[in-house]
Amino acid sequence: MTILVEWEDLLYRYPGGEVVLNGASLQLAAGQRMVLLGRNGSGKSTLLRHANGLLRPQRGRVIVAGQPLDYSRAGLNVVRRQVGLVFQNPDDQLFSASVAQDISFGPMNLGLELDEVRARVAEAAQMCDVADLLERPTHALSMGQKARVALAGVLAMRPVALLADEVLAGLDPWAYEQVVAIFDRLVAQGGAVLLATHDLRLAEGWADVVAVMEQGRACISGI
Ligand SMILES: Nc1ncnc2c1ncn2[C@@H]1O[C@H](COP(=O)(O)OP(=O)(O)O)[C@@H](O)[C@H]1O
Ligand SMILES: [Mg+2]
Repeated sequence: MTILVEWEDLLYRYPGGEVVLNGASLQLAAGQRMVLLGRNGSGKSTLLRHANGLLRPQRGRVIVAGQPLDYSRAGLNVVRRQVGLVFQNPDDQLFSASVAQDISFGPMNLGLELDEVRARVAEAAQMCDVADLLERPTHALSMGQKARVALAGVLAMRPVALLADEVLAGLDPWAYEQVVAIFDRLVAQGGAVLLATHDLRLAEGWADVVAVMEQGRACISGI
């Protein structure tokens, strides 16, 4: 079993806040569909934000593809190609004027050739069914469209592990099925998906592994 992302005994408190992670450990392996359950405020988003170095733990470490996370700028560039994080609120993720600009932002930052960037944007847009929205301003999209554009922007980086933070919550059933199909495709290609959610249906019907955040730790559940 290849472990793609490992959280090892993390301790984290926000500046001036309470301890949110307290001995949190979890492993996400290639080929896994994992659901992370937990009440509001239990630390799901905080755990996810550690996987690509957005947050740095005060104790413990994060290991991606066998390498302890390197928090230098170059190191973070490497990890953000491997681990894609889709935010809970697409408005926190989308910041470019147009959909096409937004999806191409990540690949452009990788310094890829323009042709390669275009190919990736087209592919990700097609996967997320937003190809006909490319010229639209991001602020004029519906919530479901924003969620799919945010996902396309992350997929355009071709991450091997995709961490999705409650991304299915605002989607209509049709968009929901589409996004789940995208997750399945990534897993079939040897990647892994970790979805933080309140949706017990997904935990029961879709996940291979269910983890629960509680009291600062993540436990694998038998559900
Ligand atoms: N940026 C922040 N600054 C300070 N406290 C935060 C911040 N983000 C989250 N928290 C706090 O950390 C705890 C865990 O939040 P979060 O990881 O968002 O939980 P969940 O995603 O499970 O709802 C909560 O008590 C929340 O208020
Ligand atoms: Mg959250």
